[in-house]
Amino acid sequence: MNKQRKIGLFDSGLGGLTVLHALEEKLPGVDKVYYGDTLHLPYGDKSDEAIRSFSREIVGFLAAQGCDVIVIACNSASAAAGSMLEESFPDLTFINVIDPVVAALAGSVPRKTALLGTRATVRSGAYAKRLAAFKVPHELVALPTPLLVPLIEDGFLGSGIEESVLEHYLNDPSLNGIEAIVPGCTHYPLLREAAAKLRPGVDWIDAPAIVAEAVDSVLDAAVDGSGSTTYYLSDATPSFLALASSTFSIKAHWEKKVL
Ligand code: DGL
Repeated sequence: MNKQRKIGLFDSGLGGLTVLHALEEKLPGVDKVYYGDTLHLPYGDKSDEAIRSFSREIVGFLAAQGCDVIVIACNSASAAAGSMLEESFPDLTFINVIDPVVAALAGSVPRKTALLGTRATVRSGAYAKRLAAFKVPHELVALPTPLLVPLIEDGFLGSGIEESVLEHYLNDPSLNGIEAIVPGCTHYPLLREAAAKLRPGVDWIDAPAIVAEAVDSVLDAAVDGSGSTTYYLSDATPSFLALASSTFSIKAHWEKKVL
């Protein structure tokens, strides 16, 4: 008999939907539950302690919904809370969004790569530390880019303003000569087009697809499910709902659930 598994994903807001989208392409038949913690957005400017506390509550909720595979679809939470969650919920399988991308980087041609992330992710040094364990001569330069998440969540995608802000960050002298960019925040894959326009020759790492591969690899070959997705958020702002619909074509009902 095939094992029924349910994937729970969470992020501070919309960003994790980039990972959900990749998972829906890779694993359409698996049931999924998404939680966007819009009440506490942005995570990137919070303390590690606060991020851990939000994450613990959310994972408890997702487990109560029957999820046994948890995708920490947020870099800030992956960095600040990943190991704590694994220790606190030993019966659940966790996939964070950092390890699979680091492994992909380590397996690729060494080159100068920019890591764009929230303050929490960059402060943690998680990418550099984990990459160092592979002992590859990869030059990773991390830059905090805190204005990008609010711009995306406030609906500025496509306005040109997000492009100017991204350009400001990419012009940082530390990023001179980069050959690749890691979107080290799950919101940033939405900036792929803007980045391609600003830096046409620079490779944009498809982090959500890499994470979806990693999730696929921990599931059994055959998983039964109806392929349904249930959506929760902690604060239903009109801009969030409009963006979920326009950017991700999610027309389904979002249930408000404050934890
Ligand atoms: N999308 C999240 C991340 O990957 C969080 C962004 C934020 O809330 O600051 O870090």
